Parts: sequence; structure tokens; C-alpha cells
Amino acid sequence: MKNQSATMFESVFAEDTHKGLTSYPKFLHSKYIYDKKGDKLFQEIMAMPEYYLTSCEFDILKQNKTDIAKIFSSENSFDLIELGAGDGKKTKLLLKELVDKNYKFNYLPVDISQNVLDELENALKDEIPQVSVKTQQGTYFETLEKLAEYNSRKKVILVLGSNIGNLSHSEAVDFLRNIAVAMSDDDMLFMGFDQKKDPQIIMNAYNDPAGITERFNKNLLVRINHELGGEFELEKFKHWETYDPETGTARSFLVSKEEQRVKIHRLELEVKFDAWESIHTEISQKYDDAIVSWLADEAGLLVERNFADSNNCFKNYIFRRK
Ligand SMILES: C[S@@+](CC[C@H](N)C(=O)[O-])C[C@H]1O[C@@H](n2cnc3c(N)ncnc32)[C@H](O)[C@@H]1O
Repeated sequence: MKNQSATMFESVFAEDTHKGLTSYPKFLHSKYIYDKKGDKLFQEIMAMPEYYLTSCEFDILKQNKTDIAKIFSSENSFDLIELGAGDGKKTKLLLKELVDKNYKFNYLPVDISQNVLDELENALKDEIPQVSVKTQQGTYFETLEKLAEYNSRKKVILVLGSNIGNLSHSEAVDFLRNIAVAMSDDDMLFMGFDQKKDPQIIMNAYNDPAGITERFNKNLLVRINHELGGEFELEKFKHWETYDPETGTARSFLVSKEEQRVKIHRLELEVKFDAWESIHTEISQKYDDAIVSWLADEAGLLVERNFADSNNCFKNYIFRRK
């Protein structure tokens, strides 16, 4: 077995995979789902009728784009920094509005996936060439360390798609606190939070009959096979989703259908699975106003206002530093 010291691993992905698959219970980080194939699968998810998050947030931005753009704008040029931007499907609504109203800004999308950033940059060149865009590949936490450097003019930090829902509450407070520390009084944070709702609607969004979410979840195993010399047989794992309406936490798992051993050559590791043993892969937290206010308060932020769709399915909140 490989020495667990960080220097022995070829990448953070290798190190995290080793840690997750030698822990009990086993886990893998959802951020590693996103490579070229994972990005494409997520775009397919966004187009699914069951994945209400995208259409609800799209409607909120479409209905309120004029107000939102006005709130973002400043007398001078500002920086619009988007964390976990993805393909920018919804952000483009705001970018277009900002350009149409002649507001001066730079757009700085950040994502762990270089592939999706390249796609976004190319799409903007075609669709809204007036936008000055500078992409940055990295994780949220790596980027947040650099956020405070953008301090010469107003910052608007954008996090759409309820990306924050992939973090536990304590990680979310940490994430928000890091943002708060980097914010000046003029700066603002605009963030989407998926809301608690009928549990069946939530279950359907992460458990579609076409199996797109299953392929998305299993892309973690595909990446381990390709990048770390893994021997996972995908059909020996079942995609499983749970939702706890009390905590508002949806959780995704891959469950081993049989007792099996899986070699991962580059980690010099053989992982043993009991029959029906799970790997926890993702959380998708759901919120209400009280939880959002509590998270903000813990992080040193204040909720200034929110925008909701007509069914209160999804909300986008504006936060300022306390
Ligand atoms: C659920 S998608 C949402 C994309 C976009 N915000 C939207 O609303 O359509 C999450 C995005 O965040 C990126 N991502 C996930 N975890 C990340 C992390 N820890 N650091 C940076 N980016 C991350 C993924 O690559 C993906 O593009």
C-alpha cells in the first residue's frame, strides 16, 4: 500500500481518492465528477425536465435581470467574479443585460474544470463579444485566498446553481466566511440556494428514469479508471439517492451490488467492498430563509434581499458584509 504522505501522490485527486476509499464509511468528492465527460453530463442534467433547479433560477434571473444588473452596477467599472461558473447558461442573461445597459465590468469565472471554462470563453466570444472575460481554473478555496487581491474596485461575487449545496453546513460557513473576509463594504455576494420543497420533487431531480444522474455519479469511477488505473466495473454499482426532509439534505451514493475487490494500480491499492457497501459521493443541501440567515450570520454576512420564483422553489440572495 502506498505511503499516505501527500508527497507520495501524483495529484490531489489521487490523494483524495486514496483517503476516501480507505475510510469507513467510504466517500469520494463530487467536485471530481467534473471533467469533459462530467461537464457534458451536467449539461444533460440541466436540460432534464426533472432538474427543476436550472429552470427556476433561469426564470428568477430573467424576471429580475434589470433590477439585479442595476444593483450590481457601480459608477466605476467593477469585477464580477463567478465561483463554479460551469457553462454560464444562466449567467449569460445577466452579462447580456449588463452589456446592453452599458455597465462597465470585467467577468472573472472560476471553475475546477478547465474544459468548461474554455467552452464558456468561446461561447462568450460568439454570443456576447463585448464582455471582457478572464477565466481562472481552481477550486473555490484556492480562489478565495486570492479574492482579497481584487480590492481596487467593487467586487460582485456570484455563485449560481445552488453550488453551495454541495457543502456541509460547517463547510458552507467556512466558504461564506472566506468570502466575507475578502469583501469590502461596497462589495456584494449574489448566491442561489435551492429551497426545501415536496421531497418527491427533490428525489426525482436526482434519480431520473433515463439514468443521466446515474452516469454523472458514476463518472467518478470512470475518472478513477482512466486517470488512476482503476478497474471499477460500473454495472456492479447502483446509483442511490436519499432525501431527509428534516435536515434538507439530499445525498448520493454508489452502492456495491456484490462483494468485490477493485484494484487501483496507480494508488497501489486494492479496495474491498462488502455486498451493499456504499460510497458517499455528493450532498445537495436544501434551504429555507432561516437556515440561510443563520449561515450568513455565522459567516459575518447580512442578507440584504432575495429574489424568488413564483413557487418559492429556488431563491437568489444578496449578501453584504456585516
Ligand atoms: C452544479 S454545477 C453548476 C454550474 C453553474 N453554477 C450553474 O448554475 O449552472 C457546479 C459547477 O461548479 C464546479 N465545481 C464543483 N466543485 C468545485 C470546487 N470545489 N471548486 C471550483 N469549482 C467547482 C463544477 O465544475 C461545475 O461547473
